[in-house]
Amino acid sequence: MCNQARRYLEVARLAALQAGELIRRRAGTAFRVDLKGRIDLVTEVDTACEERIRRTLLEAFPDHRILGEEGGQTGGSHPCRWLIDPLDGTTNFAQGYPFYAVSIGLEIAGEMVVGVVHDPTRQETFQAIRGGGAWLNDQSIRVSPSQSLEESLLVTGFPYDLRSGPELHLDLFRDFVLEARGVRRDGAAALDLCYVACGRFDAYWELGLSPWDMAAGSLIVREAGGELSDFEGRPLRLEGRDLLASNGRLHPVMLERIRPHLPALHASRYRTG
Ligand code: IPD
Ligand code: CA
Ligand code: CA
Repeated sequence: MCNQARRYLEVARLAALQAGELIRRRAGTAFRVDLKGRIDLVTEVDTACEERIRRTLLEAFPDHRILGEEGGQTGGSHPCRWLIDPLDGTTNFAQGYPFYAVSIGLEIAGEMVVGVVHDPTRQETFQAIRGGGAWLNDQSIRVSPSQSLEESLLVTGFPYDLRSGPELHLDLFRDFVLEARGVRRDGAAALDLCYVACGRFDAYWELGLSPWDMAAGSLIVREAGGELSDFEGRPLRLEGRDLLASNGRLHPVMLERIRPHLPALHASRYRTG
């Protein structure tokens, strides 16, 4: 693990903890909530967090690129690109349901190198450096040993545009909920990934995600020994919309259950590349 990567991690952690503190202080207070779409909320805390994170990253690395959910893409052509979800789980936060996090990842020349996901409610910080393992606070973490769907707790999520074509989402949910021990829908993609990384969930699938939802968490899962792909088993692409993350052992059976739904995926608005 080179010193430069450690430095990136240090700054990402600092930015995530600062934003986490801001979220913690504002939780349960009156804050402005706006609609980005029919059911897609954004609060003033989302925007304030992204501004805070951008300031910290740019103070340390002024020429790096940043893609943030609220501020879009900034910067020139530097190979380092930060991917920020300043508040993943906004609906939860707005409702006072304590399951949300700050997610910050660094990609260099197309490869994830650093990932930090900070849950300010539980003071849990998940982090990974490429090749250096994955951590929850000061404990090294691994994915679960679960071998079959019947002994597995899965997690998924639904996108904000669900209503403009719900069938594929509901069909997948139906198939997995009837076969797994249980399926949760907790409402924060970055934390869902981290919970796979530390074995609290055995696998996670979702369709309709954005790069900032997946970036940091995907590296944390990989470094915890898990597997990631799109719904066809191809290497995960952050610009794709479909993600399957598992403890590795469950990956073949989950891809098998997804396979009958691929024609519907190919015909859907989520088809990319
Ligand atoms: C959302 C959450 C949710 C997932 C959605 C995401 P946001 O992110 O991660 O769990 O199902 O697809 O858009 O809007 O709370 O940052
Ligand atoms: Ca998100
Ligand atoms: Ca968000």
